[in-house]
Amino acid sequence: MAGVTDRPFRQLCRRLGAGLAVSEMVSSNSLLWGSAKTRRRADHRGEAEPKSIQIAGADPRMMADAARYNVDRGAQIIDINMGCPAKKVCNVAAGSALLKDEPLVGRILEAVVSAVEVPVTLKIRTGWDRRSRNALRVARIAEAAGVQALAIHGRTRADGYRGEAEYDTIAAVKAQVNIPVIANGDITTPEKAREVLAYTRADAVMIGRAAQGRPWIFREINHYLATGGRLPPPSLAEIRDLLLEHLERLYDFYGEYTGLRVARKHISWYSKGQRDGARFRRAVNQETDARRQHQAVRDYFDGLLAGGRELAA
Ligand SMILES: Cc1cc2nc3c(=O)[nH]c(=O)nc-3n(C[C@H](O)[C@H](O)[C@H](O)COP(=O)(O)O)c2cc1C
Repeated sequence: MAGVTDRPFRQLCRRLGAGLAVSEMVSSNSLLWGSAKTRRRADHRGEAEPKSIQIAGADPRMMADAARYNVDRGAQIIDINMGCPAKKVCNVAAGSALLKDEPLVGRILEAVVSAVEVPVTLKIRTGWDRRSRNALRVARIAEAAGVQALAIHGRTRADGYRGEAEYDTIAAVKAQVNIPVIANGDITTPEKAREVLAYTRADAVMIGRAAQGRPWIFREINHYLATGGRLPPPSLAEIRDLLLEHLERLYDFYGEYTGLRVARKHISWYSKGQRDGARFRRAVNQETDARRQHQAVRDYFDGLLAGGRELAA
């Protein structure tokens, strides 16, 4: 997820059980490769393997160049984004806008597959809009082009993030192609993960927003799938320690100025639903110094822990 799954967050998710964590999308426009943002997104040092880098664009030759560029920098899988509905991406007819132009989909996939030695995977939505759910045709094009796995978000491009994800299209694709299919959309609990796997017969599930502020969801799902039992939720002390470690990694990765600003949304997600969370978020969002932000988070969770002990006593 662009703006969310940077390297620090991916590392944390991998440690907590995610089998694979794909990078934020990197533009295939080489004019952007010098920008700080794109350089950071293409920085895969220390990343858990296999390192999967997502690229976005609409020009087959540029996409092939982008794939080679990232493989030269350590990418072990190239993932192609044809699932993003963002205006910025769709205006240049990339992301999910491409689903409308099946011949172009084929040319992009063939160009990228033949440009690199590493596996190429694809992320799509179920189609352009509900009248043209062409995921099955796109999946066949992908399989014929040599794409090695397909992730499907169970919404159309026109749906944006509205309504509920549907899994019938994912099930239909899974039944008709031989490459691994990864089901995605609105999977928020271990139970839902099992349901979606059973319903679609997909080979894996992909978790997006439910991991925000909850990177331990991966170990919870793994445990549930393996045993049928629920792990106890993480303790407040563990949440505090994970968040503090996450903050340190963000400061380290972005530098303190940007790191503390990126950290704000993560702090909000981790503290959602906790006692006095809204008041804490208003206060911590005022901090403009990384050390003070870090300390405020520690104090807040220590306060919750002390409060818990008083309640228990
Ligand atoms: C803030 C945000 C950024 C996203 N960026 C990307 C992206 O760069 N590439 C991509 O393939 N999907 C992106 N997505 C879509 C997610 O990968 C996923 O398909 C979608 O959120 C549905 O899954 P979920 O219900 O588990 O979140 C993004 C989603 C969000 C909310």
